[in-house]
Amino acid sequence: MLTVEENATLTRIGPGTRMGQLWRCYWQPFAAASEMAERSTMQVRLLGEDLVAVKDRNGNMRLAGYPVEEMAGLLWAYLGPLPAPRITPIQGFVVDGAIRTIGKAVVPCNWLQIMENSVDPVHAEWAHGKLYEFVMERDGVKVPMADRHVKIRFKEFPYGIYKQRLLEGQSEDCDDWNVGHPLIFPNMVATGSHAPSATNYSYQIRVPIDDENTLHLWYNALVPPAGAVVPPHLFAQTFVYDVPYRDAKGEFTLEMVDSQDIMCWVTAGPIADRSLEQLGTTDVGIIAFRKMLWRELERVERGEDPLGVVRDPGLRMVELPLERDKRHYSDGFAKHVSRTRLRFSPIADELIAVFRGPQHEQVA
Ligand SMILES: [Fe+2]
Repeated sequence: MLTVEENATLTRIGPGTRMGQLWRCYWQPFAAASEMAERSTMQVRLLGEDLVAVKDRNGNMRLAGYPVEEMAGLLWAYLGPLPAPRITPIQGFVVDGAIRTIGKAVVPCNWLQIMENSVDPVHAEWAHGKLYEFVMERDGVKVPMADRHVKIRFKEFPYGIYKQRLLEGQSEDCDDWNVGHPLIFPNMVATGSHAPSATNYSYQIRVPIDDENTLHLWYNALVPPAGAVVPPHLFAQTFVYDVPYRDAKGEFTLEMVDSQDIMCWVTAGPIADRSLEQLGTTDVGIIAFRKMLWRELERVERGEDPLGVVRDPGLRMVELPLERDKRHYSDGFAKHVSRTRLRFSPIADELIAVFRGPQHEQVA
């Protein structure tokens, strides 16, 4: 439980706030590069600031007075003190030979309740397992996602927190328990998988528009297996799509995994009131993340770089190990696409054609 004041400190990211100062130490993706391809200006609200992205005749961009760089099909801005660090070259952003597609949605709630979801492995058992089975019951569909968590653990590393889980029936030498997947501080979760049929780098990136709205990006870089026949145009651009998570009546589309998460985030209110919460034994990851936020706030206030800020010009890539043999998505790539936002990608059918073998991705 947090006091009302502590909750305000951790959640508010506008100019002049303590958390806003921490957020401004990192580059933030504010749009897909393709959104600026045909235009020279674009209105942007980012970290509570109303700004305009401007592109000159030479293609150079700025966001009001702030620097902008393009990487991995995204436009990134840096709103912090100069000199700016680098955009962290996480593996999926810079890996060669990948097909890239990015989903986008504006989620009407504060960023922290979204990120806390990413250090709560057990939510998968309920929000993606039991809820999914309940929603699909009328169609007689069983999904392999409701496995019970036997134990969970969390390990800090130089870019965030790895979370690891052991599910009922798994042996302790499995990748879920020994590899896991990371929250990348402060605003991403990496999922993805490594399987013989494909390597799938999958990142969810959460960018505060303001205290009560968050730009949510689902970034996928899919590397086809050796020998796969891939239409060349799939490598030529990053394919961007909107992710609708409500139906025509305004209800959450709970047959989609990503809408299950969004329902959990949004129904906690615009800014979850943590003075009312009751944390339980499976919330140890959330507690670890909050401790990390307080610690990193204080580092920034001492004039230091916070966790994961990269200034080394020689760092080519931050490699993050990927899990193999995921159970949750053991029923093939086409089924995976149909259950997730990837179904809205303009290249969904072509992806299925390229990756039709068994392919596994985990839930976040
Ligand atoms: Fe989830």
